[in-house]
Amino acid sequence: MKINQAELVISAVSQKQYPKESIPEIALAGRSNVGKSSFINKLIQRKALARTSSKPGKTQTLNFYKMNESFLFVDVPGYGYAKVSKKEKEKWGKMMEEYFSTREQLQMVMLIVDIRHDPSKDDVMMYDFLKHFDLPVTVVATKLDKIKKGQKAKQLKRVMEVLGMEEQDQLIPFSAETGEGKEVAWGAIKRYLS
Ligand code: GTP
Ligand code: MG
Repeated sequence: MKINQAELVISAVSQKQYPKESIPEIALAGRSNVGKSSFINKLIQRKALARTSSKPGKTQTLNFYKMNESFLFVDVPGYGYAKVSKKEKEKWGKMMEEYFSTREQLQMVMLIVDIRHDPSKDDVMMYDFLKHFDLPVTVVATKLDKIKKGQKAKQLKRVMEVLGMEEQDQLIPFSAETGEGKEVAWGAIKRYLS
């Protein structure tokens, strides 16, 4: 898909601030620093619409980005960063629950995991949490450029096994560095936009 127009609508921490319009939404979830913001930027061919950082914890709010006036990408703050206080974790949990349990225009969640490693306990929790809310999940295994070609199939199998992925959920190998998997990711997104 060609994105001609992409803009940050709002950085929200609670429901009152979510955009009022009811165009479809696709959310990006995943561990801190896994590459959620980089995924968005690569898909829309912008270097830095969604702010990225080599330090974990860059995205702390729900960032709603409007694409071509037709749908929204929601960049969700990451989890699993050790240096976060109990209080901040609770705040994060409330923010997630409020968003994922109430947002009607949310069509599908892309759960971003690192293809180099087995999914973490937090990744498994997030997957189960999304399934609990009956949300369609597409798993994106990113940083594909960081493994040898020969490891790809084995790592993808591990991701499927450890998450306990359901048959209907798609798994997409991806790299924000090379753009590999970009068209497949767009295909997955388009299926949920109507
Ligand atoms: P938070 O907002 O902190 O939750 O992080 P995030 O998930 O948005 O990660 P972000 O996109 O900021 O990327 C984190 C780091 O990983 C940055 O240094 C990126 O350049 C790097 N990165 C992201 N995707 C890839 C990828 O596919 N390949 C490689 N080699 N590096 C990547
Ligand atoms: Mg981010």
